[in-house]
Amino acid sequence: MSCGNNSLLERLLDCEREVENLENDLEIWTDALEEFPEIEKAFEVNDGTGLGGKTILDVGTDAVKPLLIALKLKPSKIIGINEELRQFTSDIEQRSKLLTKTKIRLYNCSLFNKETFDKILEQEKIRGKFGFILVSKTLHHLRTKECIEEHECREDEECCKYGFDGQYIFEKLLSLGNRVIVYETFCPQEEDDDKVRGRGEYFTTKEWKDIFKYLSKKYRVEFIEPQKLHLTKEKMKELDSILRQVDHICFYVEEKHSANVRV
Ligand SMILES: C[S@@+](CC[C@H](N)C(=O)[O-])C[C@H]1O[C@@H](n2cnc3c(N)ncnc32)[C@H](O)[C@@H]1O
Ligand SMILES: [Zn+2]
Repeated sequence: MSCGNNSLLERLLDCEREVENLENDLEIWTDALEEFPEIEKAFEVNDGTGLGGKTILDVGTDAVKPLLIALKLKPSKIIGINEELRQFTSDIEQRSKLLTKTKIRLYNCSLFNKETFDKILEQEKIRGKFGFILVSKTLHHLRTKECIEEHECREDEECCKYGFDGQYIFEKLLSLGNRVIVYETFCPQEEDDDKVRGRGEYFTTKEWKDIFKYLSKKYRVEFIEPQKLHLTKEKMKELDSILRQVDHICFYVEEKHSANVRV
């Protein structure tokens, strides 16, 4: 009897998990549609050639943004990597072939797994840099330093928050692509529900300021959202008020003397 009740309970819990997963999948589609218009602006290049022939790497891909980018901007290839691709993504990879000439290729791979990543580049015949790297709602997951919380770290590291090494991450991203496009939600007071150990948690205002101080010194930084703005030392003073206005930002970073994306 108790065994029967247990299995009923297990089935109910399974159903609940399935509904939750479906809700999450749906949210990924609706969020992507909402976020795409801003991200699209960050792909604009001033040589008027559009994205024909260009390549994109989507780090932490949701697969939906690559589809929207393919349909609207028509680059030649988009490679999406994620530590944990969701199930529906393989359908997008397969069925997108009916809708677009852009090749969409999705892989289970971490940005930090050099061996697998290099194999992907070889398989996809990516020889030089990507034209663009998209890092959408994923930058705060790329925390590689030690825990910065003032506490004794627990074995499961659930309450930990690793430090973010802006120099290491942006040097890495800019070694892979000519323009790094970042879209990030900015809600430090909210919980980050897909944090893995200490990798995750939204950036604080202080962390953003450190990131932009470093970036503006070394690179060309262009804000798209909340307003178009070329980040200079002078404009750094406005950063506080900019960050106070919004719950997300979108900007791109290039080498100072980038020839603006010829791939
Ligand atoms: C908040 S989701 C954002 C998904 C999507 N880019 C979007 O715009 O909705 C962050 C994603 O980054 C992935 N991720 C985290 N660390 C990663 C890493 N080192 N390499 C690749 N993907 C990573 C996670 O698996 C997760 O799917
Ligand atoms: Zn800790």
